Amino acid sequence: MKILTVVGARPQFVKAAVVSRAIKRSKNIEEVIVHTGQHYDKNMSDVFFDEMDIPEPKYSLNLGGGNHGEMTGRQLEAIEKVLLEEKPDVVLVYGDTNSTIAGALSAVKLHTPVAHVEAGLRSFNMAMPEEVNRILTDNISAQLFCPTETAIQNLQREGFEHKQCEIFNVGDVMYDAALYYLDKSHRPESLASNIESDFILATVHRADNTDNPEKLGSIIDALNQLSLQRHVICPIHPRTRKKISELGLDCQFTLLDPVSYFEMLWLLKNSALVLTDSGGLQKEAYFFQKFCVTMREQTEWVELVENGVNSLVGSDKEKIVSQARQFLTSEFEARTDLYGNGDAGMKIVEKLSAE
Ligand code: UD1
Repeated sequence: MKILTVVGARPQFVKAAVVSRAIKRSKNIEEVIVHTGQHYDKNMSDVFFDEMDIPEPKYSLNLGGGNHGEMTGRQLEAIEKVLLEEKPDVVLVYGDTNSTIAGALSAVKLHTPVAHVEAGLRSFNMAMPEEVNRILTDNISAQLFCPTETAIQNLQREGFEHKQCEIFNVGDVMYDAALYYLDKSHRPESLASNIESDFILATVHRADNTDNPEKLGSIIDALNQLSLQRHVICPIHPRTRKKISELGLDCQFTLLDPVSYFEMLWLLKNSALVLTDSGGLQKEAYFFQKFCVTMREQTEWVELVENGVNSLVGSDKEKIVSQARQFLTSEFEARTDLYGNGDAGMKIVEKLSAE
């Protein structure tokens, strides 16, 4: 059988690395990778392919940037051409980005079944482009691979068991990745040599935070304040860097260029605490038994909040600082099996190849 995988943004490269490795082990599956080019800087894209040994994309579409509709529309048109050429048996998409919906929609229009990895997640905030992308993608997928029990329940609530699709709880491919690649973690080359451990790891890239000067200013103030107490290390998305410079915000903590996955694993392992608005990093914090202060109002990973290891504080400076301080003096305890057994990739490939 032939699987056509569509990826485009940083977290999708990590997820695809896991599933592609499992596909390679299966003799009767051919995988063709399409990279939309949504993320295009070397350290946002190439470094992941090189480091994680992801098969080279057969098609690199170079369709990043622009408004959401423009980006998605251009990708849709280009992916359709690839599908007409390749005629795959299934199109595999990941997560909730514009590349996800572009891949899924171009497939379903040609009556090619879609398989969605990371199905069923909801933030219940339709102002997030990701929420729109994931709901639409779930609704046009034939196979929905959920990472958690919560995701299954979300789909049940939306009546998916009456639709023509198969739903599986396979666990989280990000957990597979963290286990598999941990040995390869290494400190970021750009990190000062006197910083070894016990720092705060922070990331900010959500449009909701970066495109609102008040919110971004408040987050930077909070990080400045915390940096008086601990080193704060912040690998920064190109867009956030641009906004910080446009607004002339003064960052008194360590800004790094975006780091590779292996460098991120090192930062996670050696950190004391994670502050983020990323979806993926919230879970990765948990994989490494670190508390996470989430600078958003909602999360798709509610089980972390229910287990007391993640707290939603939005962009309010006082809330960020006080929650961070509280976590820094708390003992981490949580269930260990929230995201499966580290075999999600293998289970996905088994289901994909089952007749
Ligand atoms: C996208 C995903 C988001 C995911 C994130 C991971 C959507 C709607 N959002 O958000 O869910 O968490 O990826 O990082 O798809 N840019 C560069 N170089 C790059 C990539 C981006 O300079 O390599 C700049 C461009 O100005 C671009 C902007 O960042 O317009 C935003 O990038 P975009 O891909 O639109 O969204 P992300 O915020 O990265």
